[in-house]
Amino acid sequence: MNRRRFVAISVASAGAALGWRPAGSGTPTPLPLVAGASVAPIGAVRRLIVERVDPVVGRCRYVADLGGRQVANPILVAQRGHRIDAVVENRLPQPTTVHFHGLMLSESQDGAGFAPIEPGASKALRFEVRNRAGLYWFHAHPHGFTAEQVHAGLAGLLVVTDDEDAALDKALGLTPGNRIALALADARVAGGALRPYAPSEADCLHGWFGNRVLANGTLDAALAVNSGWVRLQLLNACNARGLLVGFRENGRDGAGVPFHLLGTDGGLLAAPIPLEQVFLYSGERVDIVDVSGRREIAAMSLAFDARHQARGGRLAHRHPARERFPPLAGEKVCASPAVGNETDALPDGAELALFTLRVSGTARSALPPLPGRISSLPEAMAASDAAPRHMRLDFDERAGFLIDQTPYRPEEIAFSVGRGAREVWEIRNSPISMPHPMHLHGFGFRVLRRQATFGPARRLATHGSGRLPTDLGVKDTVVVWPNETLWLAVDFALPGDAAFRGRQRYMFHCHNLEHEDGMMMRNFAVV
Ligand code: C2O
Ligand code: CU
Ligand code: CU
Repeated sequence: MNRRRFVAISVASAGAALGWRPAGSGTPTPLPLVAGASVAPIGAVRRLIVERVDPVVGRCRYVADLGGRQVANPILVAQRGHRIDAVVENRLPQPTTVHFHGLMLSESQDGAGFAPIEPGASKALRFEVRNRAGLYWFHAHPHGFTAEQVHAGLAGLLVVTDDEDAALDKALGLTPGNRIALALADARVAGGALRPYAPSEADCLHGWFGNRVLANGTLDAALAVNSGWVRLQLLNACNARGLLVGFRENGRDGAGVPFHLLGTDGGLLAAPIPLEQVFLYSGERVDIVDVSGRREIAAMSLAFDARHQARGGRLAHRHPARERFPPLAGEKVCASPAVGNETDALPDGAELALFTLRVSGTARSALPPLPGRISSLPEAMAASDAAPRHMRLDFDERAGFLIDQTPYRPEEIAFSVGRGAREVWEIRNSPISMPHPMHLHGFGFRVLRRQATFGPARRLATHGSGRLPTDLGVKDTVVVWPNETLWLAVDFALPGDAAFRGRQRYMFHCHNLEHEDGMMMRNFAVV
């Protein structure tokens, strides 16, 4: 397809392609079913405390104060249209922010690092959840400290529901224990203990890779589910590792267990897609459903060629702010060629166990059928004459990974877009590079097309335009492999309320967090 024609059919009509609708309409939907003792309704949160629990390994956590009851490492839940009105208290020895990844928020609530909360200070958290149902998340985002703080545990889940989401659970006959939201993060573990975050210069270039996976903070997590459908909402919360998620049945020679993809970053697909494996890069989410007619299912990241094609170079974080605050674990960050714990790391693309599902109860003979249509999400196609906005991802041996040859400049606005503009972004990654999971704050987008995707991923493309199954939903984070070009449709519609008036600044960056802190980020403004 030539580019002119492609552009002409590309950008979706305002908001519709993202499935937005005014919040608060219709009959009330119950809160989402989510397994776990740490579930906290967003409207009940009075304070969100950010604290370090252990200065040796540097572990940190969020604690939600629900006015009398405190919940550590909360899983927040909300209906679309619900509000949060809370105070964030920073008890860390470093500045922090709380960024709600995937939510459409004003600059002042986005928590993107323009206004870090200093140690001992607090900030009001006050917004309405306008997004579709889906798995969103909140994490620390103070520029220069993001990788260290997220790795330390400052990442939490937000599960949003709406009518379509609730209808799906009903159709599947789900019980609360069979709907699970998990943040998957790798860490370096030696002798059963977590190693502190102490990336070498090489780690800062390629990303910090661990050797084991924590699921909601737990190593070797085993989740008890009942026989029947199991719905899993998974977040890749690793600093840098890409996951190729697949399932195996334990005790049956590891036979693969197929599943269905139900949704992506920004909620449900129009229809489920049968799959055997799915890529999930840092910051991305998938919503999948599986039949647990089996006794025990192991969720794995399957081995794949991770395509780290950048060689040489050493990358050090260069943040003046870092000199003013101690590291969380007293370890140097990006400061030396090697620090001695690289041996605890498994390379990107290595096979890795994620978690296990243990199934109890006898298999139900008559399982409810999987609905053919699960949401009203439209195809991402409509007319626009606008020329695409081009962006290039490059590698420079001295400057590291760059967007348009430019390292992050906190004061700069790389470009401005008009409110309500509908743009096509063409993002091209250099052949001498790595996969970069690129993330846009504030706005969901649709993937229109991929070109020059590398072989193992291209084989998963079951749709026209080179798109992968996960490209068919609403996205806020999308991987661009080396040498690949992606076209995205972005709709910059903003709500009319006071909080969104005037210039709103957002960020576009790589969600490999070592790359993000390593300056692979640009600011833009909606005016
Ligand atoms: Cu998940 Cu800018 O972040
Ligand atoms: Cu974000
Ligand atoms: Cu990157």
